[in-house]
Amino acid sequence: MSQLASRRIVLGVSGGIAAYKSVELCRRLVDLGAHVVPVMTADAHRFIGPVTLSALASEPVHTSLWDDASVIPHTQLGQTADIIVVAPATARVLSSYATGSSEDLLTATLIATRAPVVVCPAMHTEMWEHAAVQDNIKILRSRGVHIVEPETGRLAGGDVGAGRLASTERICAEIIRVLGISQDLVGVDIVVTAGGTREPIDAVRVIANRSSGKQGYAVAAVAAQRGARVTLITTVDRVAPVGVVEIQVETAQQMKDAVDTAALSADVVIMAAAVADFRPVIRADQKLKKADGIPNIVLEPTPDILASLGQRKRPGQILVGFAAETSSLVAHATAKLTSKCLDLIVANDVSALGVGFGYDTNAVVLLSPYAPPVNVALADKHTVAHALLDSVVEIRNQKQETK
Ligand code: CTP
Repeated sequence: MSQLASRRIVLGVSGGIAAYKSVELCRRLVDLGAHVVPVMTADAHRFIGPVTLSALASEPVHTSLWDDASVIPHTQLGQTADIIVVAPATARVLSSYATGSSEDLLTATLIATRAPVVVCPAMHTEMWEHAAVQDNIKILRSRGVHIVEPETGRLAGGDVGAGRLASTERICAEIIRVLGISQDLVGVDIVVTAGGTREPIDAVRVIANRSSGKQGYAVAAVAAQRGARVTLITTVDRVAPVGVVEIQVETAQQMKDAVDTAALSADVVIMAAAVADFRPVIRADQKLKKADGIPNIVLEPTPDILASLGQRKRPGQILVGFAAETSSLVAHATAKLTSKCLDLIVANDVSALGVGFGYDTNAVVLLSPYAPPVNVALADKHTVAHALLDSVVEIRNQKQETK
């Protein structure tokens, strides 16, 4: 079996009891044909000897930022890796990576790479379940880092619980899966919008909606992983996925201004944002006071960003809309597909459990004039993003063929 032939894998090992399992992982990766470059933290040396890893890997262990033959080892390791795998990842490494602190060769390499990263945490249950660790996992995941969750079982000191390093089989399967992510969007310029717009009523109040932005962020992350240049125009204060340019906006008008500019050079525009349809005509400069009585808030329509892009779509440009519906899903979505001159619409029934606003999962129907409908059953939002981008790639191919 040489499923990983000619793949360069940086294997990061940090200082936890599960470090001994990295030896078996290293061996398995080499057996699968990979060129394995081991990087150990100083604490990892307390658990296993570097000679062991050096003997099994494809080159000797790297440990220090300072005594490597290369002048800048972290950038060299980061730039040449096809993938970086950290197994085990301790709470400290997760924290350093999440906050961007480059205190040793491993964390500096993680920050200096554009390669996909697979992180395999292992620690005691109390640490794994601590809010700080879980927050760091969330941050890393939202940036597109692949997490192989620990398993439940025997831990150091005779304890039993969640926090045991995932099996070598699971880690290898994830590496093979991530490396198999197609690079079919290289050179494609994609604009993604995310989140719900907020339309001011006065100095402190807004009209908002329940959009969490999670689907838009997942689309941006997956598009970047597939090689696209991604601009994410967002109302949500979340960490942007790796390699994505983020523009923060608040209102529909601000989103329109940013989208209109970015769309000038975009090959694909994906409007995942929930744009308010109406806004107050007047925004009071001061906070409205209760003593002044019930305010009479008069609304006016916001500009329809997608419809106006549809009116002036460049040849070859692809416009993707979202239709969050609570009834007659396909009929309403098809009407929007046509009226806004779209190439694809992602229709979801937001009244169903697990679907749409706020959830980590989604279930959608992809409708396009170019292909029969595609049903994407309930899945995490990254899986839905892959399905959406598969359709975009298909539409691009069809448009290029008919040029
Ligand atoms: N959209 C937009 N600008 C608006 C409103 C919506 O660009 N002012 C985009 C959304 O980002 C989405 C698509 O149009 O991709 C459909 O949005 P939706 O709110 O479902 O449709 P509407 O046209 O607003 O129709 P309705 O609210 O009546 O369902």
